[in-house]
Amino acid sequence: MRLKNKIALITGGTSGIGLATAKLFIAEGARVAVTGRDEAVFDRVKAELGENAIVLKGDVCSITDMRAIATEIKDKFGGLDIVFANAGWAFPTPLNDIDEELYSNIMDVNVKGVVFTLQAVLPELREGSSVILNTSFVAQTGKHGISLTAAAKAAVRSLARSWSYEFLHRKIRFNAIAPGAIKTPLITKWGMSDEWVRDRMDDFAKSIPVGYMGKAEDIAYAALYLASEESSYIVGTELIVDGGASQL
Ligand SMILES: NC(=O)c1ccc[n+]([C@@H]2O[C@H](COP(=O)([O-])OP(=O)(O)OC[C@H]3O[C@@H](n4cnc5c(N)ncnc54)[C@H](OP(=O)(O)O)[C@@H]3O)[C@@H](O)[C@H]2O)c1
Repeated sequence: MRLKNKIALITGGTSGIGLATAKLFIAEGARVAVTGRDEAVFDRVKAELGENAIVLKGDVCSITDMRAIATEIKDKFGGLDIVFANAGWAFPTPLNDIDEELYSNIMDVNVKGVVFTLQAVLPELREGSSVILNTSFVAQTGKHGISLTAAAKAAVRSLARSWSYEFLHRKIRFNAIAPGAIKTPLITKWGMSDEWVRDRMDDFAKSIPVGYMGKAEDIAYAALYLASEESSYIVGTELIVDGGASQL
């Protein structure tokens, strides 16, 4: 029970990495608020997470939504000990294909969303809180055709450093996790054929030194470590969980 009596917010907790992390945090004794936009999945997510979770609707890009979520968490739980700012989006963006809409779609959810999530919940964060920002292995090196996602995640990595300084006086730790290629529904939301998705998954697996894609649980365990007091001396860092993809 490494998170006994802790209260956690996980944005984008209705799918993939966020949902796996919510399950693990609850198993470790936390009560968790998860957020997402698509209400169609809320009943299933509530059933999967059980009575120690609440599922809240909100777009991380909307300060109004995020303030309402912060108020709901305060009313329901009284405060927060852990935030996993996880909601995000990745999409191929060769420079020539970038238009203003695509630019906003990627930069807003990944950067603006993190900024306004943290701004909204800041008053509820207790002394000693742990905040984890979700970045990506694509920002560790140059990669072909994914420049905007990489740039957005590099910005988020930088926020973890700056906010660590800004909130030292409140003993709030900020760290980041950089997932590698992880099997989640994300890529299936790109509107490509099943065959295309299968081929890309095979390509990803072949390009990773360990030879396979990661599981959402691989990131959940990293988040658990950064959320727990076992990592209390770790501040402003980025934990890379990518099967060696950016390091070997
Ligand atoms: N999977 C990977 O290979 C990989 C690699 C590196 C980094 N990451 C990062 O890991 C995080 C989670 O990705 P995932 O793979 O778990 O994807 P996923 O399965 O698609 O889950 C994304 C979650 O974010 C929510 N979300 C998306 N846009 C949102 C918005 N504007 N406001 C609120 N919630 C929003 C989604 O719910 P709704 O759509 O209902 O809003 C969903 O709950 C992202 O930040 C992603 O960039 C993933």
